Amino acid sequence: MREDFLSIPNIDIYIVAGILVLFFLMETIAGALQKSKRSANDWIQEVGSFAILGLITKPLILFSAIFLGQLLFPSLNYVLNGNILLLNLLIFLLVDDFLQYWYHRSAHEYEFLWKLHRPHHQAEEMGFFVSYRNAALYYLLMPNIWWIGIFTFLGGAYAIILGVILKQIIIISSHSTLSYDKILYRYKWLSPIVFVWERIFITPAFHHSHHGKSQLDGTSDPNGNFGNMFSIWDQFFGTASFHRAFPSEYGLQNNPKENWKASYLYPVIKSKDPKSELSSNYSKTDQRKALPSEQILEKGRNYLWCRCGFSKNQPYCDGNHHGTKFKPLLFQAKSSKKSRICSCKLTKTPPYCDDSHTKFSK
Ligand code: FES
Repeated sequence: MREDFLSIPNIDIYIVAGILVLFFLMETIAGALQKSKRSANDWIQEVGSFAILGLITKPLILFSAIFLGQLLFPSLNYVLNGNILLLNLLIFLLVDDFLQYWYHRSAHEYEFLWKLHRPHHQAEEMGFFVSYRNAALYYLLMPNIWWIGIFTFLGGAYAIILGVILKQIIIISSHSTLSYDKILYRYKWLSPIVFVWERIFITPAFHHSHHGKSQLDGTSDPNGNFGNMFSIWDQFFGTASFHRAFPSEYGLQNNPKENWKASYLYPVIKSKDPKSELSSNYSKTDQRKALPSEQILEKGRNYLWCRCGFSKNQPYCDGNHHGTKFKPLLFQAKSSKKSRICSCKLTKTPPYCDDSHTKFSK
């Protein structure tokens, strides 16, 4: 009976489409779509990217992976067929999520991949469709889609169907403006259950934090919370931060308005805006200085110290660390006074100067 259901042709596509329609209806009824400030440019990017992903990119990768598998490793074809469904499902989901964690994290830490993933973070509001806005090449290189092809070749098709449906429920709900977890945070007695849930699965709060504009609001963590379905990898690799609140602003600190053509087709089409990371002349420039910067800090106020040295707003972060392994330092001034803030980035007492700049040379 269960296998009969899973063997219905394209059942996963129907169910995923059903989940999207459900979120579309719920966001519309809740008024989120009517209030949306998304431009036509945003819609073209999101809907176009979704359509091409489903109609061209995925079929092309699946066909290529199966073809290569049969050509190079014919003895492995359908080798998982004898396994129970639950075992195949577990293998499929854990490998898929591990690959996605590292691919997504690399897309924040390496400049070329960041430029392909940047459109995803340009969205200034969340919504069920935001999960589909990335450059075309980002999807073509995505290891998870290749993994689906490989797992199909190995004989795990039913596990993939179930796995894709479960994954999409988590991914779409964690991008939606209708965050189911907000209700759970209202009841203190639910806290232990939420604690366990958020340490296994990605919640809307966990993922919204990743889309927040800047750590300055105390909730956003755009350089952490990289997980897709499970939060276990972020906890294991030290990139998790749990919040039960939502960012005050979404998007990028340094965000020139980008046409969908450059966002979606980079590096084939580049931005004409010289300030854009997607333009041909853009490069990160070293802004470190040999002397500390004297700043008047206000007691209790949050500041974001630039660690990478690329910010044009020294000694503070302006978002130019995206595409590197650096992460700014959030700090609060303990008293209102003039302070020497490190500009050479060599200090051992960040963000304050410890005279390490005597060893600084560019
Ligand atoms: S610009 Fe953010 S850490 Fe340097």
